[in-house]
Order: sequence, then structure tokens, then C-alpha cells
Amino acid sequence: MPGPLIVIDGPAGAGKSTVARTVAEAIGAALLDTGAIYRGLAYLARERGVDWDDEPGLAAIAATLRIEFQPAAEPGAPQRVLISSDEPGAETLDVTSSIRTPDISDGASRVSRHQAVRAALLDIQRAIAATSVESGHGCVAEGRDMGTVVFPDARHKFFLTASAAARAGRRHKELVARGQAPSRTQVEVEMARRDQRDSSRATAPLQQAKDAALIDSSELDVAAVVSRILAAVDPA
Ligand code: C5P
Repeated sequence: MPGPLIVIDGPAGAGKSTVARTVAEAIGAALLDTGAIYRGLAYLARERGVDWDDEPGLAAIAATLRIEFQPAAEPGAPQRVLISSDEPGAETLDVTSSIRTPDISDGASRVSRHQAVRAALLDIQRAIAATSVESGHGCVAEGRDMGTVVFPDARHKFFLTASAAARAGRRHKELVARGQAPSRTQVEVEMARRDQRDSSRATAPLQQAKDAALIDSSELDVAAVVSRILAAVDPA
């Protein structure tokens, strides 16, 4: 029997990554972190000297991009992200932490605006989810356009949001824990810029799917959000 496909969309800092990872662990499903794909592309483009505004150049890299998610090095840590490309001689790079810098966050948001890039990455996302769903384990896919564009037919759709202050506070804490030290104001400004870009772009803007359940996590902890999702997916 196919496993469930659960999709979670929402803005940066709403808690999507942690919630999606916890839901996936709870039901033994794979985790599809689509932000990591855009981040991986931004990283590879930078390595190859391709500008984040060069749509054809980026689409060419996206067309040969290979991405693999592997279990985390330790429990509770983010899963490992490996990227390479179909091109002969391409090496595999472990970009787990190098794609989480503020610079690559900005790059991911810039490369993701381009229609040709989004189109080139559709198949990768659908293929990863299909493998996990068909195996019976299921997949939890998180991003910005899971419910609207990539998996419009998914049965379980959630839109996770929180107030701008709560989101900036969480992201700041996360960056500090990783040894980076931007100021809280810097995080707020960068996040607002990214939100604005993600919500206003012409292709696949950040948007709640009509049939997605809205969860506001401003006043909820991760456990509370996760239990709402699990209860909706498998009402006992
Ligand atoms: O979720 P995360 O912060 O890792 O995503 C990085 C950037 O990738 C987002 O700001 C957004 O611009 C882009 N993205 C997207 N569509 C997705 C996932 C991420 O446009 N499905």
C-alpha cells in the first residue's frame, strides 16, 4: 500500500523544518526538504561562477542537478544533504551546513524566483516523493509551493505560519546555535526581504493552498504543532 504524502508550506522561521522532520520521524516517512534543493542550486551556481540572476545559466545547472538526502549524523540533527550533477567527472559535495548561511539563504530566494529554474526542479521533487510514497513509508514534503504547484493532489496539506516577530526570534536563535552571529535586527530585515520576494514572485509564490489547513505556531511549541498534524493525518 502506498504511504501518505503530507505537505507543509509556509514562510521562513515558522518552524516548518523541525515540524516536518519530527512528523517524518514519528511515522517513519522520508523528509523532502525542498528549500535544500534551492539552496543546493544557489551553492553550486556560486561555485561555478554563475550569477543568481542568470536564469538560463541556473536552469542549465538545475537540469543536471542531483540531490540526495541521507539520515542525520546524530539523532535530532538535520539530515545530510549531498549534491552533485550528471556531468562527467562531477564530484559529490556534502553541503549540509554550507547551504545554511545567510548568504546562501539569500541566494536560494533569488534563484527560486526564476520560472525556468522552478520548472527544471519539479521532476526531482516529484521523483523523491514518489519513491518514498510507493515504498509504503510515505513522505513529508516541506517548502513554499508543495500544496499549490508540486503536489496539488496531496491529501494532507498544511500551511504553517507565525507572527513576524516569532519567526525572526526563532531563526536568530537557530543561527546563533550554529555559531553564526547576525544581530536580531539583521535577521528580521533579511527575513522580511525574503518573505516579500517569496510572496510576490510571479511563479509559484508562497501561498496557502485552498485545501490546506492553516496552523499558526506563534503560541504553539513544536510538539503541539506535530500532534495537530498527526491527528489530522491519522484521526484515531
Ligand atoms: O525553506 P528554506 O528557507 O530552506 O528555503 C530557502 C528558499 O528557497 C526560500 O526563501 C524560497 O525562496 C525558496 N524555496 C522555494 N520553494 C520551495 C522551497 C524553498 O521557492 N518549495
